[in-house]
This record gives sequence, structure tokens and C-alpha cells, in this order.
Amino acid sequence: LHPMQEAWLDQDVAQCGYCQPGQIMAAVALVRRVKEEGRPVTEADLDGIRNICRCGTYPRIREAIRAGAENM
Ligand code: FES
Repeated sequence: LHPMQEAWLDQDVAQCGYCQPGQIMAAVALVRRVKEEGRPVTEADLDGIRNICRCGTYPRIREAIRAGAENM
């Protein structure tokens, strides 16, 4: 698995799962971009992900992105 997928599992992010592939792709793209810019992921970066999750898993998504970023 990709490190971001591992983080998703560790944080038990998914509820219904419908939005999750897109959330993970957005997360990986975000982390690649901020790493290219040589800086950590900020709250504003996380706010910038606009993918809708109708189950409201946003707090766990944010935690998983932070955790996944450490291993990318
Ligand atoms: S986990 Fe159900 S829509 Fe996001």
C-alpha cells in the first residue's frame, strides 16, 4: 500500500467509503506539492481540500493526511 493508504487504515478514516479514493488522491497530491515547496502541511492546506464527505469524516481525514505525510 501507499503510505497515505496505510495512514488511512491506521486512523480508521472511512465510514461508507464512497468519497475515500478521491480524498486519498487529493491528499497525496497535496503532500507532494507541499514537499516540492519544502514546507510542512498547514491547516490552510487542509482547508483547501474541497472534496465532500457526506459522512463527515473530515477530522480523521486531516489526522491521516498529517500522519501519511510523515512517511511520504
Ligand atoms: S466516508 Fe462516506 S462520503 Fe465520505
